[in-house]
Amino acid sequence: MSNPSLLILPGDGIGPEVMDQVIRIIDWFGEKRDLKFDVETDLVGGAAYDKHGVPLADETMARALEVDAVLLGAVGGPAYDDLDFSVKPERGLLRLRKEMDLFSNLRPAQCFDALADFSSLKKDIVAGLDLMIVRELTSGVYFGEPRGIHKEGNERVGVNTQRYTEAEIARVARSAFELAKRRNNKVCSMEKANVMESGILWRDVVTEIHQAEYPEVELSHMYADNGAMQLVRAPKQFDVIVTDNLFGDILSDCAAMLTGSLGMLPSASLGAPAANGRPKALYEPVHGSAPDIAGQGKANPSACILSFAMALRYSFDQGEEATRLENAVQSVLASGVRTADLMQAGEADPVSTTEMGDAVLAALDASLQ
Ligand code: IPM
Ligand code: MG
Repeated sequence: MSNPSLLILPGDGIGPEVMDQVIRIIDWFGEKRDLKFDVETDLVGGAAYDKHGVPLADETMARALEVDAVLLGAVGGPAYDDLDFSVKPERGLLRLRKEMDLFSNLRPAQCFDALADFSSLKKDIVAGLDLMIVRELTSGVYFGEPRGIHKEGNERVGVNTQRYTEAEIARVARSAFELAKRRNNKVCSMEKANVMESGILWRDVVTEIHQAEYPEVELSHMYADNGAMQLVRAPKQFDVIVTDNLFGDILSDCAAMLTGSLGMLPSASLGAPAANGRPKALYEPVHGSAPDIAGQGKANPSACILSFAMALRYSFDQGEEATRLENAVQSVLASGVRTADLMQAGEADPVSTTEMGDAVLAALDASLQ
C-alpha cells in the first residue's frame, strides 16, 4: 500500500515559515510513529500569482483533487491589494474550496488553560471553552449569482446573491449533527429567518433533518445577530454551531478571538467522503498571512501544527496521534514557552517560530517515554 498523500501549499506571508514547522512534525510522525506521508509542495495565493499570473495554477488545482489532503498556510498581502478581483490571492483559496466541494468548514474555538488570560473577556467566561463552528463553505452569498457591479442610470450598483438549495443546507446540517454526536450532543443553528427567505429555508431544512435523522441530538435555533451577542455573553452555552457561509465567516472570527489567541486556532474544510472513505479535505490555520511580521521568525506555528492534528483525525483516522500532537502543543504552552503573540505586557523573551517547533518536537519525544 502506498503512503497517504499530502499537498502542502504554504502560500504567502507567515505561511511558509509556520509550514516549515509542520513539515518537521510530519517527518517526526514518519520516523517515530511509522506514519509516513508522500508530501509534495506547491504555490498558492500571491506566491502563485508571482510565478503564474494566477493565484492557483490549473496543475495545482488538479493535484489538490487527487491527493488525500491539502495543508494550506495563508494567502494574501499588501503587494497584491491592487490586483484585479479575479486574480487576488484569496481567489486561489476560494477556488480550492469550491472545486474540491469542501462544504463543511470546522472551526474549533478552544480556550487553552494556559492562555485564558489572553482573552479580552473575563477569564471565567472563557476558561474551558470548547466549541465548534460548522460553517457552510461553498455556497451562499460568496458564490451566488447574479453578482457584480453594474451601472443603473449614472450610478453604480453592487449586487451579490444569497442562495441556498435544500441539498446544500441538508449536507452541512448532517455534518454538524454527526460532529455533535461525537462531542456534547448539542447543535445551535444560526440564520436570519426573521428577514431572509434563505434563512427560513435554512431553519426548515435543519429542523427536518433533525427530526428525521438525529432526534437524539439537542437542537436550538438563533438569529445570527443574537448568536454573535450570545457568543460574547456566555460562549460556554454552545457545543456545535452550524451556520451559512457569510455568518460563519463573521461568527468564527468572533469565536476565535474569545480564546485570545488567533495563533492557536486550526480549521478543517471537508467534502463528501470518497470511495476510500476519506473526505476531500483542506486544513489551514484560522489566522491570515500577517504580512507585518512575515519573514522575521516571530510567527506562532501552533495553529498550523494543530491543523495537521485535525488532518490526522479527520482524514487519516489517527485520533490518538492527533491527541498526542494536541497534547504536545498544550504541554509546551503550559511550560511557559511563548511566541511573541502570546506575551503579556512586561514579559520578555518570546521564542522564535523554529524554537516553538523545537519545543513541540521535544514534547512529542517526551510523549513516547
Ligand atoms: C476565512 C477568510 C476568507 C473568507 C477570505 C480570505 C476569502 O476570511 O477563511 O475566514 O472570507 O472565507
Ligand atoms: Mg474570515
